[in-house]
Amino acid sequence: MAEAMSRNSSNLRLSGKIAIITGGASGIGEATAHVFANEGASHVVIADIQDELGNQVATSIGNQRCTYIHCDVADEDQVKNLIQSTVNTYGQVDIMFTNAGIFSPTDQTVLKLDMSQLDRLFTINVRGMALCVKHAAHAMVEGRIRGSIVCTGSVHSSHGFLRSTDYTMSKHAVLGLMRAASVQLAAHGIRVNCVSPNGLATPLTCKLLGVSKEKAQETYKGYARLEGVVLTPKHVADVVLFLASNDAEFVTGLDLSVDGGFAYGK
Ligand SMILES: NC(=O)c1ccc[n+]([C@@H]2O[C@H](COP(=O)([O-])OP(=O)(O)OC[C@H]3O[C@@H](n4cnc5c(N)ncnc54)[C@H](O)[C@@H]3O)[C@@H](O)[C@H]2O)c1
Repeated sequence: MAEAMSRNSSNLRLSGKIAIITGGASGIGEATAHVFANEGASHVVIADIQDELGNQVATSIGNQRCTYIHCDVADEDQVKNLIQSTVNTYGQVDIMFTNAGIFSPTDQTVLKLDMSQLDRLFTINVRGMALCVKHAAHAMVEGRIRGSIVCTGSVHSSHGFLRSTDYTMSKHAVLGLMRAASVQLAAHGIRVNCVSPNGLATPLTCKLLGVSKEKAQETYKGYARLEGVVLTPKHVADVVLFLASNDAEFVTGLDLSVDGGFAYGK
């Protein structure tokens, strides 16, 4: 916040923008909330189901510039309420970073696919993503806002893996959603893009792997050719900033990889 204040507001890339970030209580979403606030967003609404963490992130940014709202992205009424309350309070939605997602808790190979786990994962990663794009787009169209929607994909959006079949399927679906929405919303001046990170250490992956941040980072080094740098949530947030801002004013329908040169089992 202090960083934003000390810079000339005309240099700030999100000056005056109203942004919503789903999954903003943790990991990539949390890092993006900080980056958006530092780039002058007039307000960042964090939507998540982890109320305590979400409120902590909002407080750390400053409640004048950031607030938390409980929203389960799989529930259409809650997503509608998130968008409507943002429009009612702040006037519009300029940026929607639809990022909330979960991982398969077990291997989920094709031969051992647990369909109830698949259903749960799809409810959040696919249905939830679609609801967020749908209702943000409605608010942008109705408000005549030439907004930016950014969806979180993954290297799983364009590669197959030995495990995580349902997750891979869900992230491929996110690409399909983004592509359809980018074509359909272009007439309204609304841009829709994906950011697709390689594996990185976040609370999601540390919990999944049952290891520390450092150990998780070590594991994910094996998935990138680029040496000398370790992927962090801030790297992803900086790419989301690019897609959300006018720096990407003529960019739509793009799946932007943040993968350091993806290399499965290099
Ligand atoms: N960490 C990685 O290696 C990695 C790589 C590529 C893509 N991704 C994607 O990045 C996104 C963010 O993941 P992360 O790694 O920052 O994980 P994270 O767990 O740190 O953050 C995800 C957030 O989403 C929230 N969330 C989960 N279900 C929700 C729901 N139903 N409604 C609202 N919020 C919900 C969680 O509470 C959490 O705060 C996800 O879509 C994930 O699939 C992660």
